[in-house]
Amino acid sequence: MEILITSLSLATVLVLAVIIGTGGKPMVFVTSLGETVSLLAKNKVPLFWSGLCVLLVLGFLYFFYVPAATRIGPEQPIPFSHRVHAGVKAIQCRFCHPYVGRSIHPGLPPVEKCLYCHEYIIANHPWIQKEHEYFNTQTPTPWKKVFYLPEHVLFNHQRHIKKEIQCLECHGQVETMDRLPGKRFEMGFCIECHKEKEANIGCWLACHN
Ligand code: HEC
Ligand code: HEC
Ligand code: HEC
Ligand code: HEC
Repeated sequence: MEILITSLSLATVLVLAVIIGTGGKPMVFVTSLGETVSLLAKNKVPLFWSGLCVLLVLGFLYFFYVPAATRIGPEQPIPFSHRVHAGVKAIQCRFCHPYVGRSIHPGLPPVEKCLYCHEYIIANHPWIQKEHEYFNTQTPTPWKKVFYLPEHVLFNHQRHIKKEIQCLECHGQVETMDRLPGKRFEMGFCIECHKEKEANIGCWLACHN
């Protein structure tokens, strides 16, 4: 979606530039295009390098200035919606992620848990049929991970949940989202809150393995 908007606005800017640059007579641009092309052909090498630079700068801007949270997360095998389940139907987070306060792995719900309700609720929905397929073949649903940590960082929910830090503070308003956006936590994010709440920040021995 954003790509579409960006390309559309770029195209608009380009058209405007041509119209203004040719003093309101865009056809001049077309007729002089032939000359321009032959001129460009003589300067291939510097053109190649400046083109490359422009691309690099654009790529850099994209990755550092488009906030990660606005990028849509990976498509899931079943379009599970937190908005429907945790929002509209107000099912508790802990019902589906029961180990969050106890284990390093909060756990994603197994198929059995989905079917606990969906045996009866919208049982013939094609996505629920797919859940049955996973169940019958004993395949765990291949959910894609959306929250990432750098590989050398160890994170344990336990200490944080005990201090009654809400899921929201780290994961955002999950209950308003259909598809969760991808997010990679940076060290600054951990440290900022640790400073604010006067938690251990000399802990990087404990966090880095
Ligand atoms: C506690 C009960 C409960 C559990 C557990 C549950 N669901 Fe649901 N689910 C619902 C209800 C209620 C609806 C809304 C049905 C409706 O729209 O009539 C729903 C709707 C859905 C829909 C259709 C949503 C839409 O966008 O229309 C899908 C797909 C779905 N659930 C998948 C799952 C999956 C996958 C799991 C397991 C991870 C799961 N559900 C676990 C209660 C549950
Ligand atoms: C009905 C079951 C259900 C409920 C209720 C539920 N979740 Fe989930 N949750 C899932 C499923 C299934 C996935 C994997 C699919 C996905 O990422 O959308 C998931 C994924 C997640 C993830 C992403 C994990 C990753 O892959 O990195 C987070 C974070 C999360 N849930 C937090 C919450 C919070 C916070 C709440 C309460 C506001 C909540 N969930 C309520 C079923 C549920
Ligand atoms: C202090 C920040 C913080 C809080 C509070 C927090 N989480 Fe997380 N959560 C994380 C981080 C960081 C990860 C990624 C961990 C990893 O990749 O090892 C994560 C991962 C997850 C995952 C995916 C785990 C997996 O196996 O892939 C689920 C599910 C989840 N959290 C649910 C919850 C729920 C539910 C709550 C509230 C009860 C909650 N979290 C509160 C920081 C937090
Ligand atoms: C929203 C605030 C918040 C965020 C974000 C947060 N923490 Fe914490 N963290 C705390 C608090 C508060 C404690 C102290 C808990 C206690 O005193 O038991 C803590 C404790 C810890 C501890 C135990 C420290 C010790 O004393 O040994 C570790 C390890 C830790 N956090 C790692 C992380 C990592 C890694 C991240 C980033 C992925 C992170 N935390 C993000 C608030 C936060």
